[in-house]
Amino acid sequence: TSRRKFFPIILVTSLNQVEDKIAGLEAGADDFFSKPFHTLELVTKIRSLIKLERLQDELECSEDIIFTLAITIEAKDLYTKGHSERVGNLSAEFAGFLGFPDKDIINIRKGGILHDIGKIGINEAILLKSARLSEDETTLVRDHPVIGSKICKPLYSLRQVLPIIRSHHERWDGKGYPDELTGNEIPVMARMVNIIDTFDAMTSIRPYRAGVFTREEVIDTMKKEKMSGQWDPHLTEKFIEMMEKQYINQWPLKRD
Ligand SMILES: [Fe+2]
Repeated sequence: TSRRKFFPIILVTSLNQVEDKIAGLEAGADDFFSKPFHTLELVTKIRSLIKLERLQDELECSEDIIFTLAITIEAKDLYTKGHSERVGNLSAEFAGFLGFPDKDIINIRKGGILHDIGKIGINEAILLKSARLSEDETTLVRDHPVIGSKICKPLYSLRQVLPIIRSHHERWDGKGYPDELTGNEIPVMARMVNIIDTFDAMTSIRPYRAGVFTREEVIDTMKKEKMSGQWDPHLTEKFIEMMEKQYINQWPLKRD
């Protein structure tokens, strides 16, 4: 979002019909005054509008900070570099493919970028460990969806994104975490991000796995495993359909 200098636009009008006022607000006015008015009243109104705008700016600023944080955490780590952005972009594309409205597409992109932000509190030595995690370490790692949604909770603009962050490790069969939700209890956008998170992880280099799979190999695996219990089978089918339709000519893709 672009920053603009804020000039409150206040219509001063002798029109008193509700329709006129609505038309004025729709044309971009922030407020209106009917003649005759008191100067002090007008000044007070301008002050409060400016205050509101500053508050809005601060909130947007906090959202920017959180996004920067998300990109910074993974930038430290060769293995996950770019992962969140890729998940955000592909999730948004998937939502568009499924015909979701624009506001959902915006939210799922944010959710994709922020899904692992809760990992900020987890020691890198654990995150990068190639050996099997101990029970304590597993518990720590499994806290990241809850920590992540706590980080973003104060931001009103991210309220629709919280369920994606919290539930991106739930499984269709109920064996996921943190709430062990089953099937349609899992928010649909979290089910989508789960599929794409796994897809991206399998097509990129990870410390705990030697090889990298091509997109085609991963799609083949997903076809075989769509009933395995991790994913929503219908959404998985749709995702495969999208990938085959949109990317078939670009395969095999070169990785950077
Ligand atoms: Fe995660």
